[in-house]
Amino acid sequence: MYKLLLRPILFLFDPETVHNFTFKLIRFAHNLGFGAVFRNTYQANNKLLERQLFGLTIPNPVGLAAGFDKNAMLYKELSNMGFGFIEIGTVTPKAQDGNEKPRLFRLKEDLAIINRMGFNNAGVEAAVEQLRENPSVGEKGRVIIGGNIGKNKITPNEEAVNDYIICFEALFDYVDYFVVNVSSPNTPNLRALQEKKPLTDLLQTLQDKNNSKGKRKPILLKIAPDLTNEQLLDIIDIVSITKIDGVIATNTTISREGLKSENKTEMGGLSGQPLTKRSTEVIRFLAEKSNKAFPIIGVGGIHSAEDALEKLDAGADLIQLYTGFIYEGPQLIKDINKAILKRNKKEKL
Ligand code: FNR
Repeated sequence: MYKLLLRPILFLFDPETVHNFTFKLIRFAHNLGFGAVFRNTYQANNKLLERQLFGLTIPNPVGLAAGFDKNAMLYKELSNMGFGFIEIGTVTPKAQDGNEKPRLFRLKEDLAIINRMGFNNAGVEAAVEQLRENPSVGEKGRVIIGGNIGKNKITPNEEAVNDYIICFEALFDYVDYFVVNVSSPNTPNLRALQEKKPLTDLLQTLQDKNNSKGKRKPILLKIAPDLTNEQLLDIIDIVSITKIDGVIATNTTISREGLKSENKTEMGGLSGQPLTKRSTEVIRFLAEKSNKAFPIIGVGGIHSAEDALEKLDAGADLIQLYTGFIYEGPQLIKDINKAILKRNKKEKL
């Protein structure tokens, strides 16, 4: 229904307006009592889909990637659409407007999006307010929430660690796992934090905070697809040194290879189908070169069940969607879970 009826209408309008409108529409449908309809249509309740990772029980391996529900406004409703885990953020300590509009562009011919949102968000305390309504963190069988954290645009890189600590401390009791985002192309200089020394220092500081808690939370690192092999080897080293729990590969790319759409020259991060191959390559490289030493969440250009299986085969333990969810709708989540189940059954025969 989404692809045939809703998408053709939504795609007639400005992407950011549509994003905000869709939020309201999903909320409205839930207020009218359609939550159960969504659950019955899309949720995959099958024990065989459950994954045990970083000490968490994840109801199914298909998650929503960061950037869609930046302020944790809609995670309950989105979980009814079948996601096994939802990553909120990127949040920063203080609220910030992000870049000037327009800053979100559809590349329809390429099944892609370019965004230069620039971490527009209402600040970490606003997200905490929303998450307070989720008293079930730690409870079995419910959606898992990840907190993706970043730094404010005005914070210089030398002080970035403070921003990450503020977000980490504020969210600690309200999320199941953390993601340290140093890979967005839309905050000037942010990706310089992916260099070995600053990244090791940042992650070690967060780990020290984490280890001082009664019960620590999993910390993952989200990386860019534009890193060289040498930099990826550094990432493997850093994970081993700091003992963080895993890597999310990948964020959006600054590459513009092979695009057809007229919007292709817009500045920002490219996501969707043109990213599929590269993000899978990064996952495979990390898994092979590390001997699968840590869990990987695979994200980037998953638009079909086959794309998802490819990421899992390359070494991903879980996967996330963003652009594919915009183009294909919630049916994609269901299709992927079905394909995973089907394969599980075949493997058992
Ligand atoms: C993103 N993404 C993103 N990632 C992140 O860590 N923090 C963020 O705030 C955002 N914001 C954001 C906004 C928009 C409009 C898009 C399209 C993407 C990146 C996203 O989580 C994902 O890593 C990439 O988009 C690649 O996956 P897809 O979109 O190809 O499935």
